[in-house]
Amino acid sequence: MQKTALVCGAGGFIGGHLVKRLKSEGFWVRGVDLKFHEHAETEADDFAIGDLRDQRFVREVVDQRFDEVYQLAADMGGAGYIFTGENDADIMHNSATINLNVLDACHKRNIKRVFYSSSACMYPEHNQLDPDNPNCVEDSAYPANPDSEYGWEKLFSERLYLAYNRNYGMECRVARYHNIFGPLGTWQGGKEKAPAAMCRKVAEAHDGGSIEVWGDGKQTRSFLYIDECIEGTTKLLRSDFAGPVNIGSDEMITINGLAEMVIDIADKDVSVHNIPGPLGVRGRNSDNNLIKEKLGWAPSQTLREGMEKTYAWIATEAKKRDNQK
Ligand code: NAD
Ligand code: GDD
Repeated sequence: MQKTALVCGAGGFIGGHLVKRLKSEGFWVRGVDLKFHEHAETEADDFAIGDLRDQRFVREVVDQRFDEVYQLAADMGGAGYIFTGENDADIMHNSATINLNVLDACHKRNIKRVFYSSSACMYPEHNQLDPDNPNCVEDSAYPANPDSEYGWEKLFSERLYLAYNRNYGMECRVARYHNIFGPLGTWQGGKEKAPAAMCRKVAEAHDGGSIEVWGDGKQTRSFLYIDECIEGTTKLLRSDFAGPVNIGSDEMITINGLAEMVIDIADKDVSVHNIPGPLGVRGRNSDNNLIKEKLGWAPSQTLREGMEKTYAWIATEAKKRDNQK
């Protein structure tokens, strides 16, 4: 029997890549999203356009016993979207409603295996004040103190999925993604994250010019290339471990360091100009001990390898955009 999968958020960055991966494994795939993918044709066998906040629509698309369900749909973005405070009510309402609807429909259809994408943004701010030594070990989550409403919604939804495991015998799996990047991701418009923003700014810069980077540039992060995110995602869903578990890179870098890396990749004579902007936590890095222990796997690709591919894609997209003007 051909296996079946449902990908919620299939019109987005990670969902789009996941559909491709599941098709290459021979699955029949249904994608669901508010919109089609902006950067690529979908490979899904069936693609339902609709709003997962609408319970009736959710019950229509969760219309069979899928072997695997991936719930990636969310109201999300980078620092310029989630840390300004202006989108807090929408983020909490939209994402929580999607999770409540999708999970309950899966339960009613007797679907067991559901993947949920939480975020490193749920970790307490007080453990991420030192840029050189942030603590993102899974069991440091409580007492809870995320620095954004986006993080609080993720924490609530993590608990929701795990409650369905306990009370209804489901096999939900919860990952905490740490800043995922790569080709076919959002690279302009305000929701882009630092890796894509740096690539776009450098691609647009002229030799002798500069790029603007928010903050003093000494804040730290780690960034995970999309292929490794997809590998970790499918591995976790098919494992016996419910999580929550980090899916992220442990190669930490300062944001100015990231900018310099992109400038070097582009081989341009460009300088970094630090300006005020939305910042988020001071430091963050994935702790990969638990994923190694439970899945016998952790990401290993270097940041540079992923950034080279991402820069090449964004530079091409930026050129296409400029030619259309
Ligand atoms: P994305 O924004 O590219 O994809 C999310 C998709 O959900 C979008 O295509 C959007 O249209 C869709 N969506 C939003 N509201 C919807 C609704 N009401 N009905 C139907 N579809 C709706 O984001 P992504 O980077 O692919 O992230 C996927 C998931 O991973 C999200 O849950 C996100 O919070 C989580 N995550 C991502 C990262 C990252 O760095 N990309 C980090 C941590 C967690
Ligand atoms: N987006 C962006 N754009 N960030 C910039 C820029 C810029 O032009 N310049 C500097 N930064 C800095 C931000 O101020 C922040 O300190 C850091 O780069 C990282 O920003 P993002 O990549 O936008 O977000 P984040 O790492 O704080 O949070 C992201 O990762 C989470 C998981 O780890 C977000 O994408 C969340 O949605 C995600 O859950």
